[in-house]
Amino acid sequence: MNYQRILVTGGAGFIGSHIVDHLVKLKKKVRILDNLHSQIHLNGKPPLYLNSHAEFIKGDVTNRNDWQKSLKDIEVVIHFAAAVGVGQSMYQIERYVRDNSLGTAILLDILANERHKVKKMLIAASMSSFGEGMYKCPGCHLLQQPQLRLLRDLQKCKWEPSCINCAAMLQPMPTSEEAKLQSPSVYAITKKNQEDLMMSVGKAYRIPVVSLRFFNAFGTRQSLSNPYNGVAAIFLSRVKNNKQPIINEDGAQTRDFIHIKDIVNAVELCIKNSKADYEIFNVGSGIPITINDVAKTVLSLCDSRITPQLTGKFRPFDIRHCYADISKLTKLLGWKPRISFRDGMFEVYEWSKRETAVDLVDDALGELSKRQLQ
Ligand SMILES: NC(=O)c1ccc[n+]([C@@H]2O[C@H](COP(=O)([O-])OP(=O)(O)OC[C@H]3O[C@@H](n4cnc5c(N)ncnc54)[C@H](O)[C@@H]3O)[C@@H](O)[C@H]2O)c1
Ligand SMILES: [Zn+2]
Repeated sequence: MNYQRILVTGGAGFIGSHIVDHLVKLKKKVRILDNLHSQIHLNGKPPLYLNSHAEFIKGDVTNRNDWQKSLKDIEVVIHFAAAVGVGQSMYQIERYVRDNSLGTAILLDILANERHKVKKMLIAASMSSFGEGMYKCPGCHLLQQPQLRLLRDLQKCKWEPSCINCAAMLQPMPTSEEAKLQSPSVYAITKKNQEDLMMSVGKAYRIPVVSLRFFNAFGTRQSLSNPYNGVAAIFLSRVKNNKQPIINEDGAQTRDFIHIKDIVNAVELCIKNSKADYEIFNVGSGIPITINDVAKTVLSLCDSRITPQLTGKFRPFDIRHCYADISKLTKLLGWKPRISFRDGMFEVYEWSKRETAVDLVDDALGELSKRQLQ
């Protein structure tokens, strides 16, 4: 379908702003709803990159009035505004549930009870809702998705999950959309909430919904001053401030990094193609990268002699490994990730030269450690 009028919530943020630019290029009429949260936007000011061809509404997704204004004549809602940060969600519990879960509920309540023209919706879900990803036991070959690691194992620096059957050390495997959503953090719970709410109400009212479970997104415009989200951006900000990247556990934990251009491409396919309707897709690279390698890449791009600080500490709600099985999005919509981590990080590094990076990592760690969460 060729939709014209599109609302992007969170359109001033990292992922949303790239989507806005792309939709404007495609000659769509784009509206942004964003509250310019000061954790993302220094001093709560609109970012310089904000697209002037899109209509901007400064408002909050927890405010029904702001939604009503924003939804006027809209055909597609891309609901990407959210409070984003696993660690922070464990102590700003009310804000995370309000912004993410309640914010989505208000949108859906309007659609269920008021006149509107919405024909399709996309929601940004998250890999964090899986908890640990899929693993295979090299001993007994059992495929399994472990629960969070036990505190007593973490205290003994036993980082890798072990087999429920024979206790052997497990090997990570690709995680498909079918895996359980174990939602080990408040953030993960709210992301699952958003997906469930959108799917349930969308199906009931025949408004197609697509849920995109993003893995670790990276690219230009990811805030260099937000210590709560985006490990590659956080490391870059640390090094730019002449400080060590801080790595928990032993740094051999892995994440799956997906470049913003590949995300934009997936979003475009999902808007256009009705095969995506009511589907849930993993959006990742399918390639696990260790946190040690993320730090190495950043340090080598910056030509820095700093060495990372390995803390040996852990956060009880952190997972060890989860990387995407991307075959569903590839097969159904012909999507393929194209930007490697190294190439993508080179672009981020070049962009970061002109950017302010305020390092607030120590404050963020302070908040966690005073609650014994780190
Ligand atoms: N970045 C990732 O790695 C990642 C991974 C999985 C899922 N996601 C999801 O993708 C979406 C976009 O993430 P991002 O990385 O671009 O985050 P971001 O923080 O850069 O952007 C979020 C935007 O939403 C706005 N916002 C926050 N709370 C709001 C509210 N109550 N009302 C209106 N606007 C509000 C912020 O001002 C910001 O501009 C989020 O839903 C996030 O949960 C991101
Ligand atoms: Zn086993």
